Amino acid sequence: MKILVTGGTGYIGSHTVVALQQKGYEVVIVDNLSNSQADIVDQIEKITGLRPELEVFDLANRELTADFFRRHSDVLGVIHFAAFKAVGESVEKPLYYYRNNLVSLMNILESMQENNIRNIVFSSSCTVYGQPDILPVSEKAPIKKAESPYGNTKQISEEILQDYIKVSGLHAIALRYFNPIGAHETALIGELPLGVPNNLVPFITQTAIGIRQELKVFGDDYPTPDGTPIRDYIHVMDLAQAHVVAVQRMIGQQMKQGFEVFNLGTGKGYSVLEVINAFEKVSGTKLNYKIVDRREGDVTQVWADPTFSHNELGWKAEKGLDEMVGSAWKWEQAYRSRS
Ligand code: NAD
Ligand code: WQD
Repeated sequence: MKILVTGGTGYIGSHTVVALQQKGYEVVIVDNLSNSQADIVDQIEKITGLRPELEVFDLANRELTADFFRRHSDVLGVIHFAAFKAVGESVEKPLYYYRNNLVSLMNILESMQENNIRNIVFSSSCTVYGQPDILPVSEKAPIKKAESPYGNTKQISEEILQDYIKVSGLHAIALRYFNPIGAHETALIGELPLGVPNNLVPFITQTAIGIRQELKVFGDDYPTPDGTPIRDYIHVMDLAQAHVVAVQRMIGQQMKQGFEVFNLGTGKGYSVLEVINAFEKVSGTKLNYKIVDRREGDVTQVWADPTFSHNELGWKAEKGLDEMVGSAWKWEQAYRSRS
């Protein structure tokens, strides 16, 4: 029952390792620590009582990846989180993103095939939908031209998987995450952006704790009820559970096609101001924010139709917005008091 979690010391990966261990899976992590820290495995061990194995190397290195898989050919399945994910940075450094995100995927697929490992879950994103024509957006919605090299790596990765499963006998599930936020209830693991956060919720919690002076709300002139953009925020532990379900589906040979895609969202959208209001209510703090110009590349609104995931995976997001922002706040406070 061994699962390889690439990017397992990262934000979503670490929460998924916890969920896997708690369902009885043995976990081996590969991460090059480009956006995370090795001591995350200590934190995971505090939560579950089990220490995941960690190997530190770059999956974009073909030889090291091949060597790892030869030594771990008993892996039943792979959950592939490892990737660069900063949209703005990907515009500045496209080759850096294409090389890292695509070469690592190809190295993994090649090594899986060589070692007869058949199952891979891939981290995709709602970014593949762009601004959908119909809301809520289902898996059948057309893929829009990617807004950034990062988004393009997700589209191309899905295509690589689709092409490769046709000739390799591999099975792949692509999970399209909407906006993951929040932290494990123990506040021992959570989101830890390097430098200035790009995403809304870490920026909110860092502002509230005094690391950032003020949150900039990027535009209040969108055609939405309060003028700010709407997203489908999903608790990272709900997301983690979905990965366990996807792994079980693959290992239990319940897939209906060699390549399957599922939306992971709650089905409910919240505006930026609604997130801020929820945070102020739950934390009992007043957030210092101001409305500024729109951020380039932001879509107006997107939220998931999670019906297919409900029906096929038997998975449903359970945690609401207050619990999401509350856990993010608890994590921020706990982390800063430790460091
Ligand atoms: P993260 O940066 O916290 O975790 C990714 C991990 O992968 C990091 O620990 C990093 O060190 C590692 N990594 C990157 N390149 C590597 C390589 N070549 N070799 C080995 N390790 C490498 O990011 P996250 O938020 O946990 O995201 C996980 C996955 O989910 C990514 O593929 C991301 O694109 C995708 N995703 C994230 C979001 C989000 O909002 N967080 C939304 C949709 C999809
Ligand atoms: C949410 C809302 C901002 C910061 C990004 C990626 C996407 C996916 C998830 C990986 C937007 C507003 C934000 C701030 C703000 N990642 N905001 N002030 O842009 O929906 O999605 O992360 O696949 O690909 O693009 O998430 O958290 O950055 O923004 O007003 O300082 O918060 O304008 O409306 P986004 P986000």
